[in-house]
Amino acid sequence: MKIAGLTIVIAMLLILTNQVNAQKHISSLLQYDKQIDGIISQMTLEEKVNMLHAKYMFVSAGVERLGIADMRYADGPFGVREEMQPNGWMPLNWEKDKATFFPTGSALAATWSPELAYSYGTGMARETRLRGKDMILGPAINIQRIPTGGRTYEYLSEDPFLSAQLAVGYTKGAQDNGVAVCVKHFALNNQENNRGTVNVIVGERAMREIYLPPFRATVEEGDAYGFMSAYNKVNGWWCAENDILLNKILRNEWGFAGMVISDWGGTHSTVGSVKSGLNVEMPDKKFLGQALIDSVKAGKVSEEIINLRVREILRVRLAIKPIPEKEANTEMTSQPAQQKIAYEVASKSIVLLKNDGVLPLQLKNKPVIAVIGANATQIMGSGGMGAGVKTLYEVTPLEGFKNRIGDKAEIIFAQGYDPVVFSFADMFKKKTPEEIEQKAREKAVIALKLTKEALEVVSKADIVLFVGGNNRAVETEGSDRKDILLPSGQDELIKKIAAVNPNIVTVLTSGAPNDLKVVKQVSKALLISWFNGTEGGNALADVLVGNISPSGRLPFTLPVNLEDSPAYALGNYPQGGKNADVFANLVSETEAVEKPKAEAIKSNDPNTALYSEESLVGYRWFDTKKINVMYPFGYGLTYTTFEYANLKTDKKKYGKDDVIAISVELKNSGKVAADEVAQVYVHRINPSVEWPQKELKAFSRVSLNPGESKTVTLEIPVKNLKYWNETKQAWDDDLCNMEIQVGASAGEIKLKKEINLK
Ligand code: BGC
Repeated sequence: MKIAGLTIVIAMLLILTNQVNAQKHISSLLQYDKQIDGIISQMTLEEKVNMLHAKYMFVSAGVERLGIADMRYADGPFGVREEMQPNGWMPLNWEKDKATFFPTGSALAATWSPELAYSYGTGMARETRLRGKDMILGPAINIQRIPTGGRTYEYLSEDPFLSAQLAVGYTKGAQDNGVAVCVKHFALNNQENNRGTVNVIVGERAMREIYLPPFRATVEEGDAYGFMSAYNKVNGWWCAENDILLNKILRNEWGFAGMVISDWGGTHSTVGSVKSGLNVEMPDKKFLGQALIDSVKAGKVSEEIINLRVREILRVRLAIKPIPEKEANTEMTSQPAQQKIAYEVASKSIVLLKNDGVLPLQLKNKPVIAVIGANATQIMGSGGMGAGVKTLYEVTPLEGFKNRIGDKAEIIFAQGYDPVVFSFADMFKKKTPEEIEQKAREKAVIALKLTKEALEVVSKADIVLFVGGNNRAVETEGSDRKDILLPSGQDELIKKIAAVNPNIVTVLTSGAPNDLKVVKQVSKALLISWFNGTEGGNALADVLVGNISPSGRLPFTLPVNLEDSPAYALGNYPQGGKNADVFANLVSETEAVEKPKAEAIKSNDPNTALYSEESLVGYRWFDTKKINVMYPFGYGLTYTTFEYANLKTDKKKYGKDDVIAISVELKNSGKVAADEVAQVYVHRINPSVEWPQKELKAFSRVSLNPGESKTVTLEIPVKNLKYWNETKQAWDDDLCNMEIQVGASAGEIKLKKEINLK
């Protein structure tokens, strides 16, 4: 009897374990483990540790003796960075390393197209291979928590589901083409100010439901081979030595089998890092070099741990074929096939926010078009700190208009305002009050002159195309913006222009939200054209003249006021105090092991970011708190109209393992072909725990000719509706009644249907 009972218990345990394991992703990287046993058994401790830190700025070592090639990293995420000196940041000024500049993250996200994200990954991989590199340092996928975030333009969206879908597309596209991704920055790098010192205090539920899902999806759905740890701390621990993030969640729960590299200068300890799951210290060997050898010899770290970290790197090394040096860099990095992808993404990312009927532009009578704004001639591939692309070419908006309509309109141009220019020197040098005053006086004189020129030019024009927005000096790694106002006095200028010529179409080339109160009011049409890559200007011109219909949708909410957004409204950001830091490696190891202090959390400590808004990020906040927005998440107009009808679900009641199959009819009821993005949100009716008002759970981009109808089918697995139960430390079901809401944005729900989860 006893034995039979025990057998049953063991059998049940096995079933249970299998169930857990069945859910856990099995990485394709595990296939190399046998081969790796043989390699590791031949390696000395020194050879092993030699793999765990940088060899050069963008290279970590293999084992030459055993035929294991070095790992070569290509900086990304939106174009392969030019070649630099092995041990520094100075470019080598090669000819052939000019790359394609792909539209940056927020532009890619505005396409709402996982298929385009896949092409994007393909393109990034091809150029990475041409340069002879193995791993692309992208995609960059942190949630856009604050509108002012310095890297909002690099990141994808404020929504985890949209971010996840695109991140998986990028990951698969890159890895299917022979390049490992390095998903970054894991995790919760949601601000640049104090990024190297800040401790993010986040509740587990928000972390699991908002901030981690895009990362998780790249592992479970994309089989990502590489991750980069972030500079900041999460709940007291640096991300590069965060046992919870790296070992417990990433590896044990999600089944990640690849390698984690630190962000540049983001390693803070020897024993802590290597035990907690960090594989490679970049770009130094301060902690994972001799200090690690010594630590092993002193018995502080077992050689098994070293073997494990080496194994994880070798898995990636064996999955990615190294490119022999003589085959690399023989062709120009940027190639037409990739430029085409950049065009496709750009042309489908542009968001039309307002149109009083002036668009598409009518060119019958060869109008005079005044293009006003420094952003019309500004390149966006580089210009700030970090992630720059030395582009083979970049079509600016002005060039795009000339290319596409130079013969159909008379185009005249004035710069209009003095753009912000990035300077390293300014970042570090404090100016005296006299210097500041002097600078302000000079700027006022320039502004006066530029305004006068612009007003003269617009007085001669039929149409004003105001091309403004931020630039790469305004939105930059290492610091957040102080506000979301249009820089360089653009609001003042456009008001003056409107008094002379009110026929204004405004295009903003920004990667992140701007305050639109003024431009919206004075413009007949308003668009966002992002930092839109090598072909950005051509794509923009095609949209403005109607060669294609605009089809981008906002990947983030545009607030009326910055202060309405959650982290600002709750006083969680800015944290005050210190200025932005640039690199993180100025913090010592002793500081690194400090635990979070309760008193620091309460005070306005510049190094503590409290996420008390919890899951109410982006539209989840505005919807739940009923705060008006300028334009909602998911919003975007086009040159036609769509009708939504016949929302159906395949059943009324769903169990926890079911998939909710949704169908809706979409009709293009206008006169031109265009794409619509049907968005499905869920609203819980009688939940047992708190939820945001609604959450995006499915979407589909559909192309429709005039008059055409299509039935769109979308699916939501019920398991994707779970919440993180902090008490149980597990995902849990909240089986409640639920409204399926289908709409064109978070602010425009067209159809609703109630279902029950049981
Ligand atoms: C950035 C990373 C980048 C690395 C190498 C860091 O400052 O945060 O995204 O890949 O530098 O350039």
